[in-house]
Amino acid sequence: MKFHQLFVPLVAGFLSLALLPASGQDIAAGKAKAQACAACQDYKEGRRTDPVMTPMATSLSRQEMIDIANYFAAQPAKPSTYKTDDAKIKLGKAKADETLCSMCHLGAFAGQNEIPRVAGQQYDYVVKQLRDFKARKRTNDAGNMTSVAQTLSDADIENLAQYITSLR
Ligand code: HEC
Repeated sequence: MKFHQLFVPLVAGFLSLALLPASGQDIAAGKAKAQACAACQDYKEGRRTDPVMTPMATSLSRQEMIDIANYFAAQPAKPSTYKTDDAKIKLGKAKADETLCSMCHLGAFAGQNEIPRVAGQQYDYVVKQLRDFKARKRTNDAGNMTSVAQTLSDADIENLAQYITSLR
């Protein structure tokens, strides 16, 4: 077992606890909150940068982030309308199985704690994230995604994104 395979669930567990609000709100809501809140904090603290997101997140207080995360966590996911290709979806699923994406993201990319749900995510966004991880332009993942992405070709990235965007 590689170090990161053990390390991520530990860090994920710790972060979701650390970010839970102190009040006795229900745990499921708190977990969802913590997940989105942590994504915001990466921008605020410069671990993830984007010309649009960074200035917006920098001006948010911790409470505002929690409120916004709470709002987003309560929204139903809107399915992607990207026109997928069945052959590419099949190749993407095979690649996901081979690369053990589900070890962290769970089956059908449902997500858990700090590991994001990406099922049904927009095709172009997924391609961009996987390319950015591969090029180490996005590095707020404790090395998990940047190392996985090194093994992916451009075609693998497109097939994986086809599979992910097709999931509901
Ligand atoms: C060892 C654990 C691990 C494995 C294996 C893994 N991921 Fe990830 N992945 C993560 C973590 C952690 C993040 C979130 C980084 C952050 O905090 O923003 C992430 C983020 C992502 C994102 C960006 C999500 C977003 O909303 O920006 C995509 C897309 C993704 N992973 C796809 C994959 C695919 C495809 C595979 C298999 C080829 C895979 N992951 C394998 C841990 C993993």
